[in-house]
Amino acid sequence: MLKNIRDQFPILKRKINGKRLVYLDSAATSQKPQFVIDSISEYYKKYNANIHRSSHVIAKEATTMWIDSHRKVANFINADSYKEIVFVRNSTEGLNLIANTYGRQNLKGGDIVVLSEMEHHSNIVPWLILQKEIGFDIKYIPVSEEYDLDIGWLKELIKNGGSRVKIISVVHISNVLGTINPVKEIVEIGHSVGAFVMVDGAQSIPHIKVDVRDIGCDAFVFSGHKVYAPTGSGVLYCKESILGELNPFMGGGEMILSVSKDSFEANDIPWRFEAGTPDIESGICLGSALDWFENVVKEMGGWDKLREHDVELLDALFNEFDGIEWFKVFGKSSAKERYGVLAFNIEGFSFKGCKEKVKMDGSSIVEYLSKRGIAVREGFHCAEPLHDRFKVGPTMRVSVGIYNTKEDIQVFAKTLKEAVLSSY
Ligand code: ALA
Repeated sequence: MLKNIRDQFPILKRKINGKRLVYLDSAATSQKPQFVIDSISEYYKKYNANIHRSSHVIAKEATTMWIDSHRKVANFINADSYKEIVFVRNSTEGLNLIANTYGRQNLKGGDIVVLSEMEHHSNIVPWLILQKEIGFDIKYIPVSEEYDLDIGWLKELIKNGGSRVKIISVVHISNVLGTINPVKEIVEIGHSVGAFVMVDGAQSIPHIKVDVRDIGCDAFVFSGHKVYAPTGSGVLYCKESILGELNPFMGGGEMILSVSKDSFEANDIPWRFEAGTPDIESGICLGSALDWFENVVKEMGGWDKLREHDVELLDALFNEFDGIEWFKVFGKSSAKERYGVLAFNIEGFSFKGCKEKVKMDGSSIVEYLSKRGIAVREGFHCAEPLHDRFKVGPTMRVSVGIYNTKEDIQVFAKTLKEAVLSSY
């Protein structure tokens, strides 16, 4: 069955220097199945028109598809209504949107915004920018030696800081550690003092069933391109009662109902947050990609089977490097406790961005893999504070998608071992 899934991805038939492409960088972006590629082409062949504006046939069709795609996303994550779904370009834009609307409207000096030590830069920097303007405090939920969030610390903060905690924004699954965070519990803790709780689902959306109503979060963001949809598609989910109270993020286009020289009347949600001509084809094809993904997960036997597939791949990776001294795992050492990614260091080598220059240059290893068609990522993975927390330099990261097989893992492991042994 998995062979059949893999066959749906034309790029995986590509050869690089005569070797087949072994794509193990899905946490950076996923590959696209033929179904999604066809839906992009179909859009341009049949429906390409601006949305919400003209009244001709194809403009109306494109607008209907745009709205339908919002509905598909709402169903996919179990939101109450498409009105809670704002199309953005990526998770980063969703996080920035909330910082600049909810954050700017509700924060004042002395308040606390809670993040965690395992956040992606896109859930740190927007808050740092806003902090300069407003002067609130930012506190980070520590990551324990076992690579879990210290929920006891958060409870203590809430006990002492109570009503000062206005916003909690945390990652669902770390893009480096692969740790899954207890977001439902974090939401309950945050809501006990009336805090707004946002979850960054960039890495969870392609690996687990996300149900925003079950999580109970006030906002949730994800990138379409990590879940087999085109780049330029991303989602901000925000509860209708909150989104409806937010000021616009950007001005122009469909976010407006009427304008005079002195004022404007903003449109209803979600369009109030979709200023200008959006990335129409990507937004529409996000809906197609989610249809495709749901079908494939169903054919596999459900979300548990998808999880089994991910665990089997990481388990195979752990087995390949079992007992190998130079392979230093960053994060939990059990496939069952990791979701989709395995970051590691290679003893004696340093990767791009390393602050100490005492080690051997790992770029030769990266180059060795790359020339042989193997795609992995190295660096801080936009999570430098997490690496600093553990005094770990930049890491190499393997990340898997629905199309990967154990053979991919074997080819990667064999090639990495060759690369390291030939570099000593
Ligand atoms: N955030 C993406 C990654 O982890 C780009 O690679």
